[in-house]
Amino acid sequence: MKIGIIGTGYVGFSTGVGFAELGHSVICVDSNTKKIEHIKNGNMPIFEDGMEDIFKRNLDAKKIRFSTSMKDGVTDADVVIISVGTPTDPQTRTIDLSYVRQSATELAGFLGNYTVIVLKSTVEVGTCDEIEGIISRENPTAEFDVVSIPEFLREGFAVHDFFNPDRIVIGTDSTRAQKVIEELYKPLLGKFPIVRVSRRSSEMIKYASNAFLAIKVHYINEIANLCEQTGASIDEVRLGVGMDSRIGDKFLNPGPGYGGSCFPKDTSAMVSMGLKNGVRLSLVECAIAGNEKRKTDMASRILDDIKGIVNPKMAILGLAFKGGTDDCRESPAVEIIENVLKKSEIEIVAYDPRAMANAENLLGNRIKYARSAYAAAEETHLLVIATEWDEFKDLDLKKIKSTMVRPKIFDMRNVIDIREAKKIGFVCSSIGRRT
Ligand code: NAD
Ligand code: UGA
Repeated sequence: MKIGIIGTGYVGFSTGVGFAELGHSVICVDSNTKKIEHIKNGNMPIFEDGMEDIFKRNLDAKKIRFSTSMKDGVTDADVVIISVGTPTDPQTRTIDLSYVRQSATELAGFLGNYTVIVLKSTVEVGTCDEIEGIISRENPTAEFDVVSIPEFLREGFAVHDFFNPDRIVIGTDSTRAQKVIEELYKPLLGKFPIVRVSRRSSEMIKYASNAFLAIKVHYINEIANLCEQTGASIDEVRLGVGMDSRIGDKFLNPGPGYGGSCFPKDTSAMVSMGLKNGVRLSLVECAIAGNEKRKTDMASRILDDIKGIVNPKMAILGLAFKGGTDDCRESPAVEIIENVLKKSEIEIVAYDPRAMANAENLLGNRIKYARSAYAAAEETHLLVIATEWDEFKDLDLKKIKSTMVRPKIFDMRNVIDIREAKKIGFVCSSIGRRT
């Protein structure tokens, strides 16, 4: 099948590479000329474990191409997938659907034979109806259906999640569109559950899923706070709680708060969608407020710790919003650094295995950047672990201690072996444990 993808970001690029690997002919379109040139030259636009080989193989085989022209992506396509961004409007705090609307307006004129337009961007309920209206107005003779197929991939696991989804949600009432989509996913059919629902339910499933996960993270963070005060251990508590199959053991890792390009924006979009419809989503509101507070609480813990030190210096390991990605959008690490810098003249040296370039775009020269965890820790009074990269689990703590001014660790991701660190002579604090 011929597939056009509009918006070549995390989702568009991963989806394009995935469908090319499944045997389809894919053209990924993006309005960002620099990005498209970069990719055309064989460069990955994102860091995703295991994706580069698949991308290069399909690029060489010309099964995937990249263009800045909407015409290239839409003309002759059987399926056009819209995967442009849906950020939060900074003024109104509601969802900004302008990129989705603009894509629909731009693509409409190039529609020829019957085409299925898939809306993969995360959108508020009713957006597919709106897109259908835009395309019909722009091109009254176009023959098409708009289908909602939300994306559930996790950054860092995009390859795994594309080929092994928990489910594929298909939102449409059109049997003609349904047949085209089944052809699109044919190589995966039978291997994973397909959830056939209405467009509006499909749009809601995406928000309800992300908000639930965000609430779960917020919940375990609150339980971690209570563990710290009562002497229970979050490691033991989440083990015992997670074994209840009704609860499950996933998304029970406490930390510095959830971040990323989706949970923060999708939870606030959901609250405003609720308000627009006269429904208050108090649990989601709580998670949003609690998550914001968490990042200032983490900063306060750092500030308390360095109080009284002349010319304090701190190392921070991890800048990405979670391990396995170079994405720093709404990263708790970045926000905590900003909060600390607002209240202290502290010198901060940071290290991240993948996210240094993206973090530097956000933090500039307000902090220093080191080439390794060891270099970052040199002559510091405090070592903070903010992202759970695997390499931070196996640090040579003796080596680190020998170069620090004061051997103190604040592990916000509970990745290091506290007992071992204490034996070596570190003073440690972590999350959800009394020490
Ligand atoms: P992104 O910001 O990485 O990429 C969006 C791309 O769309 C950009 O490259 C931008 O230049 C391009 N674009 C914008 N308007 C365009 C236009 N008119 N024509 C062509 N290109 C255009 O975004 P993303 O992270 O891939 O997210 C895309 C959507 O998918 C969002 O709605 C997001 O909520 C959702 N989503 C993201 C993830 C994720 O892990 N990042 C997972 C599931 C769902
Ligand atoms: C999330 C969802 O997991 C995906 O299903 C969804 O497709 C995506 O959002 C989206 O809509 O964009 P992602 O943002 O890649 O994926 O990251 P997650 O792995 O969900 O983590 C989100 C945040 O929660 C991170 O900051 C992470 O560190 C934090 N988290 C997660 C915890 O603090 N504890 C946990 O136990 C799990």
